[in-house]
Amino acid sequence: MAVQAEEAFIRIALREKRLTQEQVEECRRIHDELSEAGIKWSLPQVVQERGLLSRKEIRRILKAGQDESIDVKINGYEIIRRVGRGGMGAVFMAKQVNMNRTVALKVLSQAAMSNTKFVERFQREAQIVASLRDKNIVAAFDYGESNGWHYMAMEFVEGLTVKKLVNRTGPLPEEQAVRIALDVASALKHAHAQNIIHRDVKPGNIMLDPDGVAKLCDLGMAKLSEGEDGSITRIGTTIGTPYYMSPEQARGETELDGRTDIYSLGTTLFYMLTGDVPFKDPSSAVVMAKHITADPPWLADVNSSLSDDISRVVAKMLAKNKQDRYANADELMHDLEAVLEGGPLIAPPRWVSKLEGPVPSGPVPPPKAAPGAVPVTTAQPPATTGVPNHVVVILAVGLMIAIVTILLLIQQKSDLRLQNEMLFTNSFAVAKEQAELNPADYERNIQRFEFLLRHAKGTGWEQQVKDHLDRARRRKEQDEAAAKSKKKP
Ligand SMILES: Nc1ncnc2c1ncn2[C@@H]1O[C@H](COP(=O)(O)OP(=O)(O)O)[C@@H](O)[C@H]1O
Ligand SMILES: [Mg+2]
Repeated sequence: MAVQAEEAFIRIALREKRLTQEQVEECRRIHDELSEAGIKWSLPQVVQERGLLSRKEIRRILKAGQDESIDVKINGYEIIRRVGRGGMGAVFMAKQVNMNRTVALKVLSQAAMSNTKFVERFQREAQIVASLRDKNIVAAFDYGESNGWHYMAMEFVEGLTVKKLVNRTGPLPEEQAVRIALDVASALKHAHAQNIIHRDVKPGNIMLDPDGVAKLCDLGMAKLSEGEDGSITRIGTTIGTPYYMSPEQARGETELDGRTDIYSLGTTLFYMLTGDVPFKDPSSAVVMAKHITADPPWLADVNSSLSDDISRVVAKMLAKNKQDRYANADELMHDLEAVLEGGPLIAPPRWVSKLEGPVPSGPVPPPKAAPGAVPVTTAQPPATTGVPNHVVVILAVGLMIAIVTILLLIQQKSDLRLQNEMLFTNSFAVAKEQAELNPADYERNIQRFEFLLRHAKGTGWEQQVKDHLDRARRRKEQDEAAAKSKKKP
């Protein structure tokens, strides 16, 4: 959930006295702890899990927050309506007054503005978009700060994102999907030529204008490549949706190149053609593990009306090993055009990719010995260890299975930890609330806190629970003392 939406939610809940400042602080703390543990819960989700507000109430407040976010005031522009929302802010349709034209205004949320890293990233996004001029990339017009808001004005695309289109209509016809992919590949060719890697190619970041031309947007994750070899170095990873992530991104690798975008475009094409992503699971960690190790389904197996050619192209885009993917956007465009017009493909046929892996594009390997020939040991290259190839393959497969199993176990464990943690925080919240409402019911209160203390031993909660338990015990002593002194004549 966008930071802006979360902050609007808190602002309204506090203003309407639906939450107290203390409750908000507690929820923020839980929220931060969860996100440190890699668990992405929104603040409203934490509020709901703690039983502080009902689901219905939360929905109402969120909606009120959406309408409020039109407070944004930027000199020279008239905001018309909000058209999108994302990680760091919102996108509005607006009129640029002096040019009398409609623009898309991307505005950084106030919450994001307080973080210099976000501001820098936003500024970088504007500079990167400005450096790219291509019919398939949304054009930037202006960047600045006004009344405390950071904004970027862009060409307004009157149309839907690919995500919305597929949501509405279901899978797209093969020809349409391939034409969209061709447009995006052409945008990537342009960006990659300037050493810019998009890194977040996905259906929600591709817009279709009324003529059906696809425009790549959201360069918020894009980076200028720094290495001479066209690879990029980056510190820290921002994980968005894992469905379109390349194996190397899932592994958290820091050196990414254009082939990462080709993989993500492959998952996007898969989505356009089937209405589904190649790897699905409620847990992000499992999706990421699948990107690293699982074979994607063969497209024509998912939907038999899809051509063998497009299945071959998508399989090559989704190769685990980037050396096995298209080397660049040009090669990919060649094959996408061949799918439309008929012609030989670079992508290998299915049996080759299944049996031998994709056709090697590097130097030709030395020819294998003829069947029946006596192997000559001295002819072997000195670097090999003498271990037969199939042993290496078996070992590699075994290692891969072990890694996936470990990943799944870690995930299960953290799910369990989370469940326990949520259960605990819920019960603790209820106990505190009861103790506050009925302090005279100290026996029950003591029972509750004693129970909670057994589960909080050794955790960060222990002291808090102890404090509440002590309070309930003191109340008991006071009441008993008062009762005794009353009995005395
Ligand atoms: N140039 C544009 N014209 C019209 N709508 C846009 C434009 N750019 C973005 N949007 C809308 O806003 C949404 C979020 O924009 P995006 O650039 O992806 O930002 P974020 O970084 O928040 O994901 C898009 O999915 C789209 O619906
Ligand atoms: Mg986006």
